[in-house]
Amino acid sequence: MSEQTGSATDVDTDLGKGNRESEAENVVATNSQVTDEQLINWIKSRRSIGNLTIPAPTSEQIAAAVDCAVTAPDHKKLQPWRFIVTQGNARHELGRALLAAAEAKAAREGVVLSEEDQQKTYNMPLRAPVIITVTTQMQAHEKVPHFEQLLSTGAAVQNLILALKAQGFSTVWRTGLLCNEPAVKAYFDIGEDDYVSAFVYTGSTHCDMPTRKPINLEPLLRFES
Ligand SMILES: Cc1cc2nc3c(=O)[nH]c(=O)nc-3n(C[C@H](O)[C@H](O)[C@H](O)COP(=O)(O)O)c2cc1C
Repeated sequence: MSEQTGSATDVDTDLGKGNRESEAENVVATNSQVTDEQLINWIKSRRSIGNLTIPAPTSEQIAAAVDCAVTAPDHKKLQPWRFIVTQGNARHELGRALLAAAEAKAAREGVVLSEEDQQKTYNMPLRAPVIITVTTQMQAHEKVPHFEQLLSTGAAVQNLILALKAQGFSTVWRTGLLCNEPAVKAYFDIGEDDYVSAFVYTGSTHCDMPTRKPINLEPLLRFES
C-alpha cells in the first residue's frame, strides 16, 4: 500500500498541513506483514486531498476499489448503491449538469449567477482526473428504511476511499449543495427519492500530506457497564 503526498488546499478542513508522509503511510507501504496497530494507524492516516492530478486509478484499480465498497454492511443485501465513473471529457458533461443545476437553483431563489460562479461550477469536475459518483437508489423493503440504505452507502464510500488509498491514490469525498438538485439526479438517471451520496474525487498528488491534530475522544465516547 502506498500513497503520494498531497495538500488539502480547497477542502474544508480545520486541520494543519504537515510536510512529510506519516509513519503509518510508510510502514504499510513497505511492509506486507502489518500489525493490527500499524493497520489502525494506516486507517487513521487517511486525509482528504483537494488538488488531484494524474496518474489516475485505472479501470482495474477502480473496479478493485468498488469490489471492496460493495462489501459494506448492507441490510437484506439490497445493494442500494451504484458507482458511476466520470473521467476525460465526460467531466465536461458533468460540469454542464452541475451548471444547469446551479442555474435552476438560482432561478428558484431569485438570484442571478455571476459569470465567475458559472465558470467555477462548470469547472468543478476538473479538480481531479476521475470522479466516482456514488448514488443511493432506494429499494422498497419493509425492514430496511431509507436511512439504513443511506448509511450503507456511507460505509461503501469509506471502503471505496480506503481501497483507493491502499492502491496509492488520494481522494476527497464531496457533495456540495448541487448534488441532489433535479438536474443532477436526471444526469445520473436516478429517481426523486434517490440520492447522489458522494462525489469521490480521486487521483494523485505531489504535495505534502497534511497531518491531523489529535481528536479528543472524551466527549465522543462513553462506556457503560
Ligand atoms: C457526505 C459528505 C459530504 C462532504 N462534502 C464536502 C464538500 O462538498 N466539500 C468539501 O470540501 N468537503 C466535503 N466533505 C468533507 C471532506 O470529505 C473531508 O472529510 C473534510 O474536508 C475533512 O478532511 P479529512 O477527511 O482529511 O479529515 C464531505 C464529507 C462527507 C462525509
